[in-house]
Amino acid sequence: GLLGAGVVASGVVKVLERNQAEIRRRAGRGIEVARVGARNLAKARAALGDGLAITDDLDAVVTDPKVDIVVELIGGTTRARELVLKAIASGKHVVTANKALLAVHGTEIFAAASDKGVMVAFEAAVAGGIPIIKALREGLTANRIQWIAGIINGTTNFILSEMRAKGLDFGTVLKEAQRLGYAEADPTFDIEGVDAAHKATIMSAIAFGIPMQFDKAYVEGITKLQAADINYAEQLGYRIKLLGVTKRRDDVAGGGIELRVHPTLVPAKRLIANVEGAMNAVVVNGDAVGSTLYYGKGAGSEPTASAVVADLVDVTRLHTADPDHRVPHLAFQPDALDNAPVLSIE
Ligand code: HSE
Repeated sequence: GLLGAGVVASGVVKVLERNQAEIRRRAGRGIEVARVGARNLAKARAALGDGLAITDDLDAVVTDPKVDIVVELIGGTTRARELVLKAIASGKHVVTANKALLAVHGTEIFAAASDKGVMVAFEAAVAGGIPIIKALREGLTANRIQWIAGIINGTTNFILSEMRAKGLDFGTVLKEAQRLGYAEADPTFDIEGVDAAHKATIMSAIAFGIPMQFDKAYVEGITKLQAADINYAEQLGYRIKLLGVTKRRDDVAGGGIELRVHPTLVPAKRLIANVEGAMNAVVVNGDAVGSTLYYGKGAGSEPTASAVVADLVDVTRLHTADPDHRVPHLAFQPDALDNAPVLSIE
């Protein structure tokens, strides 16, 4: 049951349709959009096509017995919270890309899901298509995470990159970011650092096992930056990047966690200084592994859909009737693969 018919929702519909054979194999069963809930039916039909059952009664979607998983892509925190809690109360699993919802109401939502025994998956909420939530929870799970620092807002990175490379002004580049589907419905969240702070809050909670504490974050965006700042930074051998940082502080009495978003001077030689456009990059430092870097598209229709559909596969796999599909590697039985030959390279 898909809630929303915007940029990400249309990406989800396309990816599910295009890669349905692979998705069926990996999930152990097919995943279909049974119903779509969208406020504006005409717009939804234009975005998603005529083939889907679309209604403007969003509550009916989250309680529909045909729906096993509710995919929340409407954004915002008020209506999204109501619908997600209603979906959970109806015994549905939830997949969401909504970082604001989780950063602000995550504690309540996860508690409700835990009581009801359903999953809330949210890979798409942080850094778009980069599987950073999986990296933190699975790949790095042996580590005591020390710090995370990243470019986690595509819109602002796009603006800073275009201002530096092309000398374009702030407003022109922001409009282009909106046209390309990177920016939030209200781009204030992007340019004031709020969106990055939502994402940093979520990573901080996962990495350090603390409740979501968005209200404690230091948040500063890029609206006060001028072309001259960017040029001076360049002359001094730096790039200005809007970083989201969260860090364990064992050196302060009683310990604590830093959580902050602000423009930062990054030495131009660093990999992260060279992350351009709407790309995101996240560095995670763990005590065993050291620093690891994750790079990819942090915004946009199909990159974000990639993470949403991955969550759909995960939720399906974990709750499918077929136990062979519960552990990810067992889903890749050789006889389930395409029979494509390995080509000989001359
Ligand atoms: N507005 C967000 C960004 C979208 O620009 O990164 C992805 O979360």
